[in-house]
Amino acid sequence: MKPIFQFSLMGTAFLSLALLVSAADLNFTLPVETAQLKTAPGSELAMGNCVLCHSADYISTQPRFPRSVWQAEVVKMQQKYRAPIATNDIPALVDYFVQNYGRENPPAATAK
Ligand code: HEC
Repeated sequence: MKPIFQFSLMGTAFLSLALLVSAADLNFTLPVETAQLKTAPGSELAMGNCVLCHSADYISTQPRFPRSVWQAEVVKMQQKYRAPIATNDIPALVDYFVQNYGRENPPAATAK
C-alpha cells in the first residue's frame, strides 16, 4: 500500500504544479488604460458597478459627454439593461464620469 500512496501524493504534487504553471501563463496584464477606469474619487464605485457586463473601454472610449448624457447613460444601464446599481449611488457615479470622462456644461469656473 505504501508505494501507491506515495505515487498518488507525487501525482497530486505534480498536478498542483502543473495547475500553478498554467495559471501563471494566463496571468498577463492588460494595458492599464483599457483594463480599468481612472483612479479618482468614485472610481471604486464605478469599477464595482460598471464593468460587470462590458469592459471599461465602453466608458473610456466615449466622447467627453456632458453631465446630462452621463446621467442618462447611468440610468439607462440601470433601467434598460438591469444593471444592479443602487439608485442612491447614481449621483456619485455621474459625478465621477463627468469629472473623469466628461465635461461640465456650463464649464466649471476654475476650468481653463
Ligand atoms: C447589466 C449589465 C450592465 C452594467 C452593469 C452596465 N452596463 Fe453599460 N452597457 C450594457 C449593455 C448591454 C450595453 C450595450 C452594449 C452594446 O450595444 O453593444 C452597454 C453600453 C454602455 C455604453 C455605450 C453607450 C451605450 O449607451 O450603448 C456606456 C457608455 C456604458 N454602457 C456605460 C456604463 C456605465 C457608466 C455603467 C455603470 C453605471 C454601466 N455601463 C454598467 C450593460 C451594462
